[in-house]
Amino acid sequence: MSTQEFAELQLFITGPTFIRPEVREAGLLPEFGHRDSENNKRFKPIMDHLKKLAGVRDDYHVIIFNGSGSNAMEATVRSLVADGECVLNVSVGAFGDLYHKMAVVNGKKAVQLKFAAGEAIDLGKLEAALVEHKPACVTFTHNETSTGVSNDMRAVCACVRKHGALPLVDGVSIFGGAAIDLSGSGAATYATSTQKSLALPAGFGILFASDEAIEKAKTVKNKGFTTDINAQLGRAQKNQTLTTPNCTLANQMAVQLDYIVNTEGIEERFARHLKMRAMVHGFVSTLPGFELLAPEGRRSPTVTAVRVPEGVTIADLKKVKEAMRAKGYLFDPGYGKLNTELEEKGQRVLIRIGHMGDITPAMLADYLDALKPELAK
Ligand SMILES: Cc1ncc(COP(=O)(O)O)c(C=O)c1O
Repeated sequence: MSTQEFAELQLFITGPTFIRPEVREAGLLPEFGHRDSENNKRFKPIMDHLKKLAGVRDDYHVIIFNGSGSNAMEATVRSLVADGECVLNVSVGAFGDLYHKMAVVNGKKAVQLKFAAGEAIDLGKLEAALVEHKPACVTFTHNETSTGVSNDMRAVCACVRKHGALPLVDGVSIFGGAAIDLSGSGAATYATSTQKSLALPAGFGILFASDEAIEKAKTVKNKGFTTDINAQLGRAQKNQTLTTPNCTLANQMAVQLDYIVNTEGIEERFARHLKMRAMVHGFVSTLPGFELLAPEGRRSPTVTAVRVPEGVTIADLKKVKEAMRAKGYLFDPGYGKLNTELEEKGQRVLIRIGHMGDITPAMLADYLDALKPELAK
């Protein structure tokens, strides 16, 4: 095998995302023992920086799971939905569907409230579902990566709370790219991962869990092993992981989070994401026949989905992808399953532009310049 064949592409997909050279180099830092004091040197600042990024103090515990965001999400289903209780899975796209699937395959009594692609959660419909199903827990996606829709996390949590349920939030594709102000948001748990707006390789799921979630989990049976948030917390309180961590990623994460908090600055990072979103919206407005999918006010700061003109097919978008590859970029020709459904229904398909992580406005400007002629063909 020749590693020379591995192409150096700049990723404009929705995760994994571009990794800065300094973070790649941090992958060469020494391995360490995960029950040794060296572990604390990495994970103590990691935990502290994650809390700063989330806007929490001691009102949420941080747990780092081996795996990815899905592992943290699945742990919330296993640990917080007791036998006989109902979980309502609210979905505005593929990742809302994923949370539902996790509940179903774990044998939970799960019902789904689904919104059409491009819609955000409608609080009236949510309220009706809460009244009808009386769930103990409600899952929803903060930032739906398949459609570029950001839900109003606080408003959804408030509605769920009004009906006595625990909100379990998937924040995989927004955390680290926008302020989430978790304290006081009402979320019982908030799950995310490393390979999106944190601009790290994949490998850890991150869970913020409130005291109330931790207490409830103590009453739930059959939580599994790695999906038991109480067992996970036992280790997390010592700044450790329950199972052996990826030391390479831990080294990179320690370096990257220090950079985010102490060099770039959290506010500056969030402002950069808003600037890049505005650049993408401006770009779309110059393309005849292209249209933003998400409604005004609910457009994601980290990913934009765009309806392409009538008559453009999935096959056409694959050609754009290859043309962009030849220019050194990885283009996102839309979420596969969703585009197949749209094409089958004779509706306009989507492309997505990931603008999260450590991509700079200058990199994005170059990318959009390279993309424009390909989309015009
Ligand atoms: C919104 C959202 N939720 C969940 C996931 C699954 O996360 P992971 O791939 O880290 O397991 C993704 C991945 O793309 C996502 O975008």
